[in-house]
Amino acid sequence: MPTLDAVALPDHLVADQLRGKIAVVIDILRATTTIVEALNNGVSCVVPVASVDGARVIAHDREDALLCGERGGVRPDGFSLGNSPLEYEPSVINGRVCVLTTTNGTRALHMATAADEVLVGAITNVEALCDWIRRDGRDVVLVCSGTDGRVSFEDCLGAGLIVDRLGYSSSDNAAMMFHAMEGAVERFGGLRYAVESSFHAKRLIGMGFGVDVAFACEAGKSSIVPVFDSVVGEIIAD
Ligand code: MLT
Repeated sequence: MPTLDAVALPDHLVADQLRGKIAVVIDILRATTTIVEALNNGVSCVVPVASVDGARVIAHDREDALLCGERGGVRPDGFSLGNSPLEYEPSVINGRVCVLTTTNGTRALHMATAADEVLVGAITNVEALCDWIRRDGRDVVLVCSGTDGRVSFEDCLGAGLIVDRLGYSSSDNAAMMFHAMEGAVERFGGLRYAVESSFHAKRLIGMGFGVDVAFACEAGKSSIVPVFDSVVGEIIAD
């Protein structure tokens, strides 16, 4: 049986923890949910960039690029799209290259590149993601992105859902904690209500992005498994 570890923040990764393994980067609100939806709706690839300035330079140099992302949850000046998955409609993005920078999610993706494979995990693609991982058979590390260096409840819940659906037994402390959290969502009235009770969800709801939070909780609606090729710098749908 492959091993299954998890970290609540990318900064919690220890030396060599990713070597030879699959890393699954999770930023439920909203970066990884948005990446899954963008690929689902027809972008040719997503280029994740850590900084706003870096994204501007890359988008300027690439034909068909759409400059996308957020800081403080809001679309920066001059960007075509923000970080709401619902903005990524086929008519807007089809065939385009999405150059994406977000506060935490794109940073976490770059911090996971020591893994053999870097996958993008969300609640929306949980079933397809787990099928991919089981077929592959390598050891797995779930990497929660967090929010500004603090642990995010919704990312840990998403990781717990993956632990549950994957069905691997794990004695890793964080993986066990996240699995136990996921098993307790009925105390909140279900997964969506649990996510909506998180700090980040409340902030997004207050900013008028409540539909994004609800969307992010639709388990298994997408069959897309995004794979980040860090050498090329692109995320494509597998
Ligand atoms: C992030 O990467 O920090 C998030 O996706 C922020 C957000 O847009 O809600």
